[in-house]
This record gives sequence, C-alpha cells and structure tokens, in this order.
Amino acid sequence: MSYILVTGSSRGIGASAAEALTERGVQVLGHSTKPTSLDMIAADFANPLSVQMLWEEALERSDGQIDAVVSNAGVFEANRLDRSDIEWLDAWEDTMRINLTAAAQLSRFAVRHWQSRGVGGRLIHVASRAAYRGDSPAHWHYAAAKGGMVAMHKTIARAYASEGILSYAVTPGFTDTAMAGDYLESRGGAGLLADIPLGKVAQPEEIARIIAFCALDAPPSMTGAVIDANGASFVR
Ligand SMILES: NC(=O)c1ccc[n+]([C@@H]2O[C@H](COP(=O)([O-])OP(=O)(O)OC[C@H]3O[C@@H](n4cnc5c(N)ncnc54)[C@H](OP(=O)(O)O)[C@@H]3O)[C@@H](O)[C@H]2O)c1
Repeated sequence: MSYILVTGSSRGIGASAAEALTERGVQVLGHSTKPTSLDMIAADFANPLSVQMLWEEALERSDGQIDAVVSNAGVFEANRLDRSDIEWLDAWEDTMRINLTAAAQLSRFAVRHWQSRGVGGRLIHVASRAAYRGDSPAHWHYAAAKGGMVAMHKTIARAYASEGILSYAVTPGFTDTAMAGDYLESRGGAGLLADIPLGKVAQPEEIARIIAFCALDAPPSMTGAVIDANGASFVR
C-alpha cells in the first residue's frame, strides 16, 4: 500500500489529484483548512505550527510510512499597491507562508523521514506559470512564492537524487477551479482566453493526471523537471 499526502485536496486541482491517485490504488492522506470530513486532516497553513501537526497526523494515519507528498494547497488573493503599508505586508507574508513556507516545511519533514528510513520518496510541487511569467500587478507575492517554489524544488532534486528522493514540479496556467474563476471574472474572461492558443483553460483533471504521473510513473531521470500545462499561453 502506497500513502501519498495531498495538501489542499478538498477541492479544485487537489481534489482531482486525490481522485486520480485513489483510482490507481493509492491511499491518499487528504488535507483542507477545516475538518470537513474524517478523511481530511485539518490544518490552516497561516499558522506555521499547523504544518508540523499535519505531518505528524499524516504519519500516524499511514503507520509511519509516507511515500510521496503533493504540495498543492495555495491561495491567490489580490494585494493592491495602494493598500496601507501594513495591510500590504500582512498579505505578502500570508501568501508566502501558505504558498511557499508550508511546502518547504513539508518537504523538509518528508526528506528527513525518507533519510531516516533509508528509503526514497517523491515530492510533487504544484507551482504556477507565474513562476516564469510573473503575474498581475496585484499578485507580486503569488508570483514570488511560486518562483521560490520552483527554485526550492530544483535545489531538493539536485541535493537528494542520489538517495532516491525525487522532486517534480508542475506549473499550470489558468485552470478551471474557484481560484481562477474569481480572477477570470474580475479581469474579463474572454480577453484572457484570447491569450491562450488552445482557446480554453485547463481542467483540474488534466493537472491531476500530471500530478499522478509525477507521483507514480515519472522515471527517476526526470527528477528536477518542471512540467508546464498552460495551453501554450507561455512557452519557454
Ligand atoms: N486554478 C488555477 O488557475 C491555478 C493556476 C496555476 C497554479 N495553481 C495552483 O494550484 C494549486 C491548487 O489550486 P486550485 O485552483 O485547485 O485552488 P482552489 O480550488 O482554490 O483550492 C485551494 C486548496 O488549497 C487549500 N487552502 C486554501 N487556503 C489554505 C490555507 N490557509 N492553509 C491550507 N490550505 C489552504 C484549500 O482548502 P479549503 O477548501 O479548506 O479552503 C483548497 O483545498 C494552488 O497551489 C494554486 O496556486 C492554480
């Protein structure tokens, strides 16, 4: 039995990833901010202590054997420059903590877990096209967090490949979830869609297939790779 922790699996890309992994026979350790069901471990990453509590609870539920971690939970909240200094700084710190620091904490726990057991493992980081392309004027923090996640992922891949600890990153463009929905609505969906040669945003199931591939099928030689999924809206 393989155990995979998927953060932010209550909805959107994370829920689709949990479904895809479950279909492949994986025991998914689910997570959301609130205790909505017994299957989900609750942890609000705005609180730094919650990440350790999530890791310990996930270990308990898996008999001390977690095989992979999908760092998917995230927020995309506008932070306009004309806010007060303290409001802007608070929003910057919140996004960094939830989108980047929590993934770093979990990656560290996982690497140390695999090292102490003398086994390999896989990390899958759900970053964003914004890591390479940047984002809107109200989303400096989001782009910076995702860029940081990609740099962290590459560092982990280089550092621990020889121990069988592999790291993969996925960088979606707009994906049809609540997160993108609010944004598309606020910025005028039709105009933004015109920038996507494929003519449509990604479905969460498409990103989930990439996540499941990275978690279960991707060859070890692909460690350190970043897989784009943006309808050719940003090719690099
Ligand atoms: N949708 C896009 O267009 C898009 C594009 C590029 C990258 N991404 C990335 O893909 C990932 C998933 O996005 P999505 O579109 O599926 O988002 P979503 O539908 O808004 O779901 C976000 C998930 O993150 C969890 N979450 C939110 N705030 C949290 C907090 N403070 N602490 C812990 N967990 C928290 C949510 O849990 P609750 O249900 O409990 O709130 C939920 O499970 C994110 O990292 C996002 O940046 C998305």
